[in-house]
Amino acid sequence: MATGISKNKWNLENNGENEHFSNLGIDISMAYEGKLVESEILKWETASCIRLGQLGEDINRLFYGDNLPILASLLNNSDIRGKIKLVYIDPPFATKSVFQSRSQRDAYTDLLTGSHYIEFIRRRLVIIRELLADDGSIYVHLDDNMAFYVKVIMDEIFGQRNFRNWITRKKCNPKNYTKKLLVIFLNYILFYTKSDNYIWNRPFDKWTNDKIAKEYSYIEPETGRRYKKVPIHAPGVRNGETGKSWRGMNPPTGKHWQYIPKTLDEMDARGEIYWSENGNPRRKVYLDESSGIPVQDIWLDFRDAHNQNIEVTGYPTEKNPALLSQIIQASSNIGDLVLDCFSGSGTTLAVASQLERKWIGIDNSSEAIATTLKRFTQGCQPMGDFVTKRDASSKIN
Ligand SMILES: C[S@@+](CC[C@H](N)C(=O)[O-])C[C@H]1O[C@@H](n2cnc3c(N)ncnc32)[C@H](O)[C@@H]1O
Repeated sequence: MATGISKNKWNLENNGENEHFSNLGIDISMAYEGKLVESEILKWETASCIRLGQLGEDINRLFYGDNLPILASLLNNSDIRGKIKLVYIDPPFATKSVFQSRSQRDAYTDLLTGSHYIEFIRRRLVIIRELLADDGSIYVHLDDNMAFYVKVIMDEIFGQRNFRNWITRKKCNPKNYTKKLLVIFLNYILFYTKSDNYIWNRPFDKWTNDKIAKEYSYIEPETGRRYKKVPIHAPGVRNGETGKSWRGMNPPTGKHWQYIPKTLDEMDARGEIYWSENGNPRRKVYLDESSGIPVQDIWLDFRDAHNQNIEVTGYPTEKNPALLSQIIQASSNIGDLVLDCFSGSGTTLAVASQLERKWIGIDNSSEAIATTLKRFTQGCQPMGDFVTKRDASSKIN
């Protein structure tokens, strides 16, 4: 196994000459014409929001209009400012396209490009940062047009140290492309948090028989339990108990035992140490103690509507509800407030309801609002035949 020393230790040994390696502050920024200072953005004129109906006591809210003045008005609401635990946005991707629904109704345009696009997103992100709770998270869904520029902007706004993951998502099956380039079937989700102390319910995938056979290939004869063998030492020299000899063996050069000798003795007594023929100890890690396979930053199983049986609203570019479910469960808890200010057909809102979160949705397309209302009252339709079904019990104010 390759080992390394920490950057801090390396810096110390080199008299801090390479301090910049440990500098997680932002030292890269993007310059372009029309970039407004943050203090001006935070004074943005607020929208006056008119409540059209109230159903129940829920604080769920669906707003129709440009999200910038609406977000600005939410800053004045003490129940919302600093209280939003999760933001997911799937804004236009700068595709220079006009999108229509499956029923050929105009839904929205995606015509902003270059610095106009970047500044459009940036202004909204600056306000969103203020709306987010200290333990909140934000996921921004983009494609390869703008993801790289928005990453730099998000580093500026949320801080490079709060960047968590660049998630790559397979969005569809490879299509029979005629263009002179490789088939594109990926897009990206940038995951940031407001601070180091954020809500995190680690997601796990289920073990498959294939993966079990590869990963947990040993079976304990006495118990029938499946296990894998892992080293009982870790990189780094320690001067305490874990650096001392155990059963007459020292940890390998440059390493220490993962446990103090007393714990290793206890583990051995319980049969949790495997001894190789030449006397090498390994720790047994049992399959039945595993929560599953920790989800990685490449998501292959969340393609958007890709067969006739999948239920959709018919809104263009609507996202896969299972993708939202993974994000919402990982980065919020029951009762938390979730915001999607480019809410389209309301995928985030419907899934948030199903997962017992509260939500705020905003969209400036009347088709999006109508689709969201229909989704909440009549449900979605399979891509093929028409079936209505209520899919969310939550109320909209
Ligand atoms: C890619 S779609 C979102 C799709 C959504 N995730 C879903 O699953 O249905 C982008 C949405 O952003 C909305 N939008 C674009 N500019 C907006 C703005 N300034 N204010 C509010 N909504 C906006 C569009 O109307 C469109 O519905």
